[in-house]
Amino acid sequence: MTETTATASGRDDTGASQTLSVRDNRTGQEYDVPIVDGAIRAADIGKIKTEDEPGLAVYDPGFVNTASCRSAVTFIDGEAGILEYRGYPIEQLAEKSSYLEVAYLLVHGELPTKDQYDSWVHEITYHTFVHENIRTFMQGFRYDAHPMGMLLASVGALSTFYPESRSISDADNRHMQVVRLIAKMPTLGAWAFRHAQGKPYVYPDNDLGYAANFLAMLFKMSEQKFNADERLIRALEVLFILHADHEQNCSTNAVRSVGSSEVDPYSAVTAGIAALYGPLHGGANEAVLRMLRRIGSEDRVPEFIEGVKNGKERLMGFGHRVYKNYDPRAKIIKQAADDVFEVTGVNPALKIALELERIALEDEYFVTRKLSPNVDFYSGLIYEALQVPPGMFTVLFAIPRTSGWLAQWLELVQDPDQKIARPKQIYTGPRTLDFMAPSERWK
Ligand code: SDX
Repeated sequence: MTETTATASGRDDTGASQTLSVRDNRTGQEYDVPIVDGAIRAADIGKIKTEDEPGLAVYDPGFVNTASCRSAVTFIDGEAGILEYRGYPIEQLAEKSSYLEVAYLLVHGELPTKDQYDSWVHEITYHTFVHENIRTFMQGFRYDAHPMGMLLASVGALSTFYPESRSISDADNRHMQVVRLIAKMPTLGAWAFRHAQGKPYVYPDNDLGYAANFLAMLFKMSEQKFNADERLIRALEVLFILHADHEQNCSTNAVRSVGSSEVDPYSAVTAGIAALYGPLHGGANEAVLRMLRRIGSEDRVPEFIEGVKNGKERLMGFGHRVYKNYDPRAKIIKQAADDVFEVTGVNPALKIALELERIALEDEYFVTRKLSPNVDFYSGLIYEALQVPPGMFTVLFAIPRTSGWLAQWLELVQDPDQKIARPKQIYTGPRTLDFMAPSERWK
């Protein structure tokens, strides 16, 4: 007897039924599971059960093959190396747009009119200041506190200054918090850097654009106005655009998972910052620079590659869960690197990076594992040329990623399909043990 787990299953234009026919050999029952948008619902698999066993679950560590949501924010084709924000190819946005226009596109779902853009830029510009108590809070960190730890804590602390942000069902309130977070991340990121340097914190300059203002808050000293080279400002804008979103990556998954409890957006973004901090994710750009410094020279690259192949090393900045040929952002970043090096001089570590890339792209170990440079492989070289220390590299990832995290969070809180994240497990521990009191156990 075939039990259909859905009342009707679609058919494609060849008339083939868009279903899986599953036979449970434990019971002899057969199930027709609908295939929709290239996926089946885990709930339909959960209907496959026996009299003694509960419905089947799907075991997928790291969610390698699990769709957690339906999203219209970012499209990636890993095989073809395609990345689009709201349908616009990343190559066109990187060449022709600005970070704040891309942030508007991600958050609102379409490109802004002139009035919408001007209003958006004005709102962001005039919300870059943070409460003075946040400055005092940040001064409590040790001199050598990692900037990502400071950013993580400061954004979490921000939630206490805007208690109204917990009203996540109010659209105007959501908009206000989105503006505040996008506006304040550069200020908090720059202050984390200044703290590490033992320098006075620089307040935002509302005459400057988003990327230029960030550079000024990083590097301004006694001069009245800090005006960075336009080529460096543009390169940073491009890097911000490239890092703005990347569909359901580890940190976005963290934002969505924490956001599913209906907590405020500051707390949800704090979860994203924490996930991005990890060396397998956003922390990879810092790890790449440390790896290049450890290799030290081109002639030591073959020895390092051998270390990777025998499992003693990991080639940081290489590999990706989705991109199995190349990360389109890495190609664009290499061009941005050339523009920056025109101003700053070539980063000596570039030669080591290029030799690593040359060998890895020819070597069977990397080719069979489809490992190629990802977004983090070259970005650190640019940041270092901008005089940003490695500890700050992931902060420069978190700042632009905030608009992507928030676009995904907005989708989450308005998606009727979503509910609080609470996955199942496969229990492997002992069962029904008898507790013996310490007085008995310790005799
Ligand atoms: C980002 O998801 C995103 O979109 C993330 C991101 C974004 O914009 O949000 O794109 C940003 O995080 C980019 C990735 C930055 N991380 C790194 O560069 C760290 C180094 N890369 C890896 O650790 C790894 O490639 C991941 C974490 C990026 C992807 O890991 P997967 O998909 O879980 O792949 P895997 O670990 O299962 O690796 C498959 C095989 C394994 O070999 P075997 O065990 O099968 O023999 O490839 C090997 C791995 O050991 N491998 C590597 C490697 N990456 C994978 N071997 C050496 N060096 C590497 N970098």
